[in-house]
Amino acid sequence: MATRQQHRPSGHQGEAEFQWHTGVHHPTGVPDAIEFIKVYKAFGANHVLQGLDLGLPEGRISMILGPSGTGKSVCIKHMVGLMYPDEGDVLIEGQSVPSLPDDELFEMRKKFGVLFQDGALFGSLNLYDNVAFPLRQHTEKGEDEIQEIVMRRLHEVGLGDAIAKMPNELSGGMRKRAGFARALVLDPKIVLFDEPDSGLDPVRTALLCELIKEVHAENGGTYVVITHDIMSARRVAEHIAVLWRGRIVESGPTAELLESENAFVRQFLSGESHGPLGMD
Ligand SMILES: Nc1ncnc2c1ncn2[C@@H]1O[C@H](COP(=O)(O)OP(=O)(O)OP(=O)(O)O)[C@@H](O)[C@H]1O
Ligand SMILES: [Mg+2]
Repeated sequence: MATRQQHRPSGHQGEAEFQWHTGVHHPTGVPDAIEFIKVYKAFGANHVLQGLDLGLPEGRISMILGPSGTGKSVCIKHMVGLMYPDEGDVLIEGQSVPSLPDDELFEMRKKFGVLFQDGALFGSLNLYDNVAFPLRQHTEKGEDEIQEIVMRRLHEVGLGDAIAKMPNELSGGMRKRAGFARALVLDPKIVLFDEPDSGLDPVRTALLCELIKEVHAENGGTYVVITHDIMSARRVAEHIAVLWRGRIVESGPTAELLESENAFVRQFLSGESHGPLGMD
């Protein structure tokens, strides 16, 4: 284990917080669609992932919760092969992402719909063309079929009347819903949401959470939602993983996490200032 120790930054606290870490057991009874196995990732002296073990169950809505700067977005980038681990492995439906050659990585990425933090719409395209973009880019479908899919997805997210609007004419919440519609047009098996609730007021956040649940109930698939909003997690998550200091403190069905005895998980899920989580 001497080599592992080198990865630990000095001043690392005790291991007690991690004692409930569930690792590669499947408390949900379904296979994991996404697995991180002993993943280490550093940027210079910044050791972001420190032996991360994480499994996210197939067909469920999972949430990865953690304080700012803990590596949540870095995790998403590892899932889609935009970043590679220094050590360890990332499996998507059993396939090792870091070992895929470029052409297979390109194919593998078609499994994903990704909703980036700001919706990431193309500023020069109207709403309709933004949502149609992946279909025109990645499929041979004709415009009639594209129209049918785009309108179905836009109606699903409540934007059926806004197709001619440009992204700068949309509110933050509408932009996120548009990004959601676009993430769904290729019928992805896995949908990743990077902080879908950031920048939204509580009512818009609640509505977006409802929408995520409804669309999931309708379409199925593995959803992974990254957030630091506890209310969102309580509302939509079926499975919660809490990330801190580069590893999972605890991971399991939402009801179990909400009853957790772990001091960090309790503090984080209750949003209290008193506990192991400080300003560091
Ligand atoms: N490409 C990069 N090069 C160098 N450092 C990076 C890079 N990407 C991320 N980091 C660092 O990794 C750490 C984790 O970043 P990440 O964006 O994953 O945090 P996060 O948990 O998503 O935070 P937030 O909740 O604020 O979005 C940060 O310290 C960040 O500065
Ligand atoms: Mg982030």
